[in-house]
Amino acid sequence: MERVGQERIVAPSVHQEDLEGEYSLRPRRLAEYIGQAQVKETISVFIQAARQRGEPLDHVLLFGPPGLGKTTLASIIAHELGVNIRITSGPAIDRPGDLAAILTNLAPGDVLFIDEIHRLSRQVEEVLYPAMEDFALDIIIGKGPGARSIRLDLPRFTLVGATTRAGLITSPLRDRFGVISRLEYYGVEDLTRIILRSARIMAVDIDPAGATEIACRARGTPRVANRLLRRVRDYAQVKAGGTITAAVAREALQFMEVDPLGLDSIDRRILRVIIQKFNGGPVGLDTIAASTGEEPGTLEDVYEPYLLQLGFIDRTPRGRVATPHAYRHLGLPVPGQQKALFD
Ligand code: ADE
Repeated sequence: MERVGQERIVAPSVHQEDLEGEYSLRPRRLAEYIGQAQVKETISVFIQAARQRGEPLDHVLLFGPPGLGKTTLASIIAHELGVNIRITSGPAIDRPGDLAAILTNLAPGDVLFIDEIHRLSRQVEEVLYPAMEDFALDIIIGKGPGARSIRLDLPRFTLVGATTRAGLITSPLRDRFGVISRLEYYGVEDLTRIILRSARIMAVDIDPAGATEIACRARGTPRVANRLLRRVRDYAQVKAGGTITAAVAREALQFMEVDPLGLDSIDRRILRVIIQKFNGGPVGLDTIAASTGEEPGTLEDVYEPYLLQLGFIDRTPRGRVATPHAYRHLGLPVPGQQKALFD
């Protein structure tokens, strides 16, 4: 489906509609949270230990691709600990004073969630170090040789930081987290369960095969799964009497030009550019960007992770290469095999 503005139906980023619908779909307890078994287990142990000792939980860093439930997990952590959560993001904290204001307003034990924590400025990050380590705020008073620093005590809090790639955050910051957990793309089975759960909450009539059909195209991402579910529901309501069966889901997704693996027209255009314009690569990210009209950063953060995950492209030192899987998916002849046929 072509984008309407920036709203791409399979984008892992947050759409306005997700926010309106997502809160009611979000699990509130760890027991309701589907998938990510290892992360759940780790967090569950640390939460229990902290509760038994009556202490705040150690700081937690969550990393992984967008849309996998980092904010949801942070809210669950707060809920399980019985404390409040304050949600902000790296780009939203402009100056050290902004962070100081947030920190001094926390109650003891509260969870502070900082999304995109890798985007904090250097100066803000430096305020965070003593806050995380000593629950203290160092404030500089005055300027020049007369300047002096005073230390303010902060309530003990738990920082939950989220980032798309652990490699993006500085090592002094990373070292201050006691728990570091990586979220993985969800498998089709877990996504099917998430879709069935969401459908129940939304009172949508769906059969398990219909849910699986949507799950296969949700790019391993619950946020995409829930969004596709809403669109398929609309289609089913108008065209098929309201029930989502496998056939109805397939029809609806085809109508939206989301292919059986969840690729949309932009993903396919990227693959076609590499294959047809650059002979399968290697081709640099900037060149692909120029040929597709996308930003290099968007290509790298938004489109490429899923194409890499599917094994459709490889990253090499000389650029991106399309794999035989990509040729086959687009119905194009695979170069080596074609040659073998004629040899
Ligand atoms: N909704 C979004 N992510 C979910 C998850 N991991 N479990 C249950 N429901 C969800």
